[in-house]
Formats: sequence, C-alpha cells, structure tokens
Amino acid sequence: HLSVQERIDRKRNAALIGGGQKRIDAQHKRGKLTARERVELLLDKDSFVECDMFVEHRCSDFGMEEDHNKFAGDSVVTGQGRINGRLVYVFSQDFTVFGGSLSGAHAQKICKIMDQAMMVGAPVIGLNDSGGARIQEGVESLAGYADIFLRNVMASGVVPQISLIMGPCAGGAVYSPALTDFTFMVKDTSYLFITGPDVVKSVTNEDVTQEELGGAKTHTAVSGVAHRAFENDIDALLNLRNFFNFLPLSNQDPAPVTECHDPSDRLVPGLDTIVPFETTKAYDMLDIIQGIADEREFFEIMPNYAKNIVVGFARMNGRTVGIVGNQPKVASGDDTSPVCVCAGCLDINSSVKGARFVRFCDAFNIPILTFVDVPGFLPGTSQEYGGIIRHGAKLLFAFAEATVPKITIITRKAYGGAYDVMSSKHLRGDVNYAWPSAEVAVMGAKGAVQIIFRGKSNQAEQEAEYVEKFANPFPAAVRGFVDDIIVPSTTRKRICRDLEVLASKKQTNPWKKHANIPL
Ligand code: COA
Repeated sequence: HLSVQERIDRKRNAALIGGGQKRIDAQHKRGKLTARERVELLLDKDSFVECDMFVEHRCSDFGMEEDHNKFAGDSVVTGQGRINGRLVYVFSQDFTVFGGSLSGAHAQKICKIMDQAMMVGAPVIGLNDSGGARIQEGVESLAGYADIFLRNVMASGVVPQISLIMGPCAGGAVYSPALTDFTFMVKDTSYLFITGPDVVKSVTNEDVTQEELGGAKTHTAVSGVAHRAFENDIDALLNLRNFFNFLPLSNQDPAPVTECHDPSDRLVPGLDTIVPFETTKAYDMLDIIQGIADEREFFEIMPNYAKNIVVGFARMNGRTVGIVGNQPKVASGDDTSPVCVCAGCLDINSSVKGARFVRFCDAFNIPILTFVDVPGFLPGTSQEYGGIIRHGAKLLFAFAEATVPKITIITRKAYGGAYDVMSSKHLRGDVNYAWPSAEVAVMGAKGAVQIIFRGKSNQAEQEAEYVEKFANPFPAAVRGFVDDIIVPSTTRKRICRDLEVLASKKQTNPWKKHANIPL
C-alpha cells in the first residue's frame, strides 16, 4: 500500500511523461517537441505554474476505463506563466496521449484557464497538436469544442488570443484557432483542414496531399487562414515570445512601452529620395516602414498573402504601433511587375487583411500608422463578382470606427475612394501628413484627361494642366485635409512626437449593441 504522498508523487511523475517514452521518442523523431518542452521554451525559465495535472478523462466505453488508458492530466498541459515577465495563460496539447485528442476533460482544462485569463486580464496562447475530437467520447467531446468556441468569442477583443499550430488540427478543431486573433504555423509538421485528403477524395474526387490541402504554405499564401509560418518548433516558439512583447495584456491595458535606444528624433535621409520621380515606378514600402521604426524592427503579419498591402507591428520610441501600408511593389495577388498602374491597388484580399489588422489594433489600444500610396481599387469582373464593394467596405469600416490614435502619411498616390478609405482625415485621422510627392486626386492624369476632355483634346497639354492642378499635395493641404506637408526624412521624428501627444487621446463611438460590419 502506498501513502497518499507516494500516490501524489506517482501521479505527478506520470503526468510529466504523458503517453510514455516510446511516444515521446516518436514525437521527437518527427521533429516535434513534446507539449511540456514547448511550454518550457515559450515561457520564462521556471515561471510555469501548472494546473489540473491530476485531471483524467471520464470515458468508460471501448475499454477506456481501464488503468492503462488513463493518463494523469489527460491530453493537454495547462497553466500560466510569464513571457519577459508578463503574465500569459497557456495550453499545450499532448499528442502522446491519444493523439492529443480532445476529451471532455481536456476541454474543461482549457476552459478553466480561459476563464481565469479573462478575469485577470491576460492573453491566452494555445499550442495545438491534436487528432481532433476524442472519438471514444462522442458528443461529450463535441460539447467540449463548443465550450471553447464560446469562450474564444467572449474573449475576442478582451484579451489577445494566439494559436500556434504545431501538428494536426482538423475538423471542428480548426474553429478555435480561426476565432483567435493570430494563427501561426510550423512548416512541414502542422496542418489545418476541415476534412482531410481521404474525405476530399471521396466527396470531390480531388487528389491532394495533407501539405497541399492545409500545410503552412497553403494557409499563409493562398487561403489567408494563418498569419505567419516558422521553420520548426523552436523557431516558432522564440518568434512567438518576440511577438508577445508587442501586445498589451488586455483591452484595459495601454499598448506596452519598452525602453528605446533608437533616438526618437532620428532623421531618415534615405526617405527624401525613396519615391521615384515617375509615378508608375515601384519602390518598396517596407523600406519606409523599417526606416522609421525603432531599430528597423518590423514584425510583419501575413507577409505572403495579399502582398499589395503590408501590415504588422513595430515600435516608435518604445511604443507599440500597428502599421498599414500600400505596397507599390506589388500589383495584386502574385503579380510583381515593376511597372504597373495597378501597383499597390486595394483588392478583396488586401482589404480583408487590412481590416482585420486595424480592428485588432483598435480593440487593443494600439495606435495605427498608415502609409498611403494607392492608385485606387483594382478594377475588373473578378473583383466585382467577388464582392470588392462589400470587402472594400470592411477596410473603410475598420478605419472609420477605430478610436485609437491614427497617423497617416501620404507618400505618393491617394486616388479616388481609396484615398478616403486609407485612414483619411475624414475618417477621423488625428494627424495626416503628405510628403511633397503626394498626389491626392480622383484618379491619375491620363485617365482623368481622357474622361473630361474626351476626344477634343491636346492630350499632353491637358495632362500637364491636370498634373499641375491636382497631382500634388496642395489641393488637400489648402483644405486642411492634410495637416502638413513634411520633409520625408523627418517622418520618424514627427510621428514619435505626435504619438506622445496622442497617448492621452479619448474618443468614443455612439452606444450600440455591436456594429454591423459588412461581412
Ligand atoms: N480520438 C481518439 N484517439 C485518437 C484520435 C482521436 N481523434 N486521433 C488519434 N488518436 C490516437 C490514435 O488512435 C493513436 O492511438 P494508438 O497509438 O494507441 O493506436 C494515437 O492517437 C496516435 O495517432 P496516429 O493515428 O497513430 O498518429 P498519426 O500521426 O499517424 O496520425 C492523425 C494523426 C491526426 C492524422 C490521425 O490520428 C487521425 O486521422 N485521427 C483522427 C482525426 C479525426 O478525424 N478526428 C475527428 C475530427 S473532429
């Protein structure tokens, strides 16, 4: 007979090895770390405080009640800890126990930490590695998913939620990551899909591999389901730590401010010549963003999806900011032709990408910097049939409703409706600047002259007149639609000063149950 203490120790030790050494070895052989190793790497040393190590599943069908089918802690490790000293709640699914599948008990453990995270106001990070619903438990397991989904929805906009997919995530399981703010994946070892390749084959007769259907490349470049992909478990977890530093702990928290060694009044001389003289020639918006950011550090979100818009996090004088920029280097989708009138256009995917990012920033008190060089919305039947009107409206909606500090810099083109959309003065932009190269107009000179002087014109002369009148920052500046025309090299200095002033900005929207953003 064992004493109680001996039984406690035994259970704890059992929990520590999950499904046993053989399965741990198998996990390692696939290039994956175990659930506990991942938690250790993610959190500050010795900061993890685990809960529910003694929880077991309660299934008694299919022989599950037998001792050898019970695992202390079941198939998930849960608790809280610190990342660079800041509180975070974590769950890490343990693939060595029934393939990390979700039992009622597993779901309950996750719900417990989510509830606590909400009460204390701290983010939740989920490390996903699971074969889905615990098949032996049936509806008990499905109920568990729904309990988590409900909490994902309730927590949305209250505490940041991040999912890192580190193995399989299929069926209903995908909807928890999909409801969180950011979904990251590990290359080659993780996949997300509603139904796997076998079901796809039997229903649609398509032949597709797991990787093609739901691997990291598919979701970061094609579907837009995931926001970033990393090389392996270690790379992903270290990047997640870095990413976490940008985020406030909750919607009651201001954006974090870190110590900054990059002078806030640093001039960036390269910006004075970055915009080419020819209006259709490309340049890289990332050069501007990195040029002005603290230490040139920019954590890009969705770098391989809808590349005609750039979004991500940086710091300005230590303060987290969300940055949105049109990308004149990219036409739309994968077209990267260097000379194109559509370069940097807004289309369906870039509007949705931008809108979701702006809404995250607004929900979590992160000021938004917007760099504008946009020739308009992308024309064409595929965009119109795809609903560019309602999707473009999302970005417009997101900028308009945002009450965080908003600073906008027009670097070159701000044409048509897209001018309005891109955090214009009219949508409550707090500080709107134009560079001398800015052109705020209904459209480019060529198109404009063709319409207003149809047929009866001396095209070249009238284009020159149009350029003289409209293709410059003055029409916007004389109306106060931009607050100033600034020397590009002073942009960082200006923004840092403005953010300091705007830190105490208070603005509220009218009371409503919730808005009805066009979906
Ligand atoms: N419920 C219960 N047990 C599960 C499970 C689930 N959903 N998924 C995996 N397991 C168990 C397996 O039975 C296996 O147990 P065993 O080693 O005692 O035989 C163990 O977890 C490891 O799974 P295995 O299939 O050997 O791993 P794999 O890496 O070859 O495949 C999956 C992983 C996820 C692709 C595969 O397990 C799978 O297809 N699972 C079912 C997925 C599913 O349809 N889930 C329901 C959708 S909501």
